[in-house]
Amino acid sequence: MNKLTLPLSVSTLIESIGDRTDFTTAEITQLLKAANIQKKELKDFTTFDHPKKEGYGRKLVYQTNHFEVLVVSWAPGDFTAIHNHGYTNWGAVKTFGRLEHSTYSLDGDYLTTLFREKLAPEEVIPVDQSLIHQMGNPYRENVLSIHVYGTSQMVDGITENSQLFEIGKGEVQYVDGGAFYDLPKSQFAIANSDLHADRLTTIGHYTQLLNFYHKTGVRGAQYRKAVNYFHDRSFESRLTTELEMDEKQVLYLIELKKAKHFLRLLGESTQTIDSILMDLNDPENFS
Ligand SMILES: [Fe+2]
Repeated sequence: MNKLTLPLSVSTLIESIGDRTDFTTAEITQLLKAANIQKKELKDFTTFDHPKKEGYGRKLVYQTNHFEVLVVSWAPGDFTAIHNHGYTNWGAVKTFGRLEHSTYSLDGDYLTTLFREKLAPEEVIPVDQSLIHQMGNPYRENVLSIHVYGTSQMVDGITENSQLFEIGKGEVQYVDGGAFYDLPKSQFAIANSDLHADRLTTIGHYTQLLNFYHKTGVRGAQYRKAVNYFHDRSFESRLTTELEMDEKQVLYLIELKKAKHFLRLLGESTQTIDSILMDLNDPENFS
């Protein structure tokens, strides 16, 4: 990779990181902010035309054996699967448009949703070793982001050995850095096959799988499982009860409406979700 072809602001960031390996996430976040990288400088690194099977566009722009810089291209509907960041000890992401961001906590084999937020343009968020998250673009415009991942050890690929949380299969998978849904067996190793998740995380996972299948036009290995998850009548009665008691009710509702939207686009029945929304007396039920 020729450093000279990089925009000045990105080169300046790279020089300011230099050989240092012991940044805190706060320090790297500050450096990325200070670099003041502009969207227009990254036009040569966009990959909005990425292969459909890859959930988003990923362009490595610089790499040493202790940090890397990536430009990610989010076309409308592009989402990562739920993942962490391999050897990353410190890192940061700058957005150049609106994105959705969800974070998770893993306790043993059990994954739960911590929070979901909307990221604004020009926002810089920290990435550390404990971060398990999902990013994506639910909006109608293309969005770019730039990502810096670093490690205190010397490694060949910082985000190699990342973990991907495939809730539908109950698997935690080791992948090479691309957090894509429904990877073929040749592209991952299984780290754990006893993964469980709370209801909201599971609904979110299957909703994004439906989005992925809609976007790719391919009904992949987990298609029927994802559709059937939302057709289960026992799921309906349990969920209605749980929802009435849960403080994250709003997030469930958003997720269910998204699932309904994708089921409809895929030509599948939305009857069970319609019943749940009606049970909950949601005024926007059939909007
Ligand atoms: Fe990530």
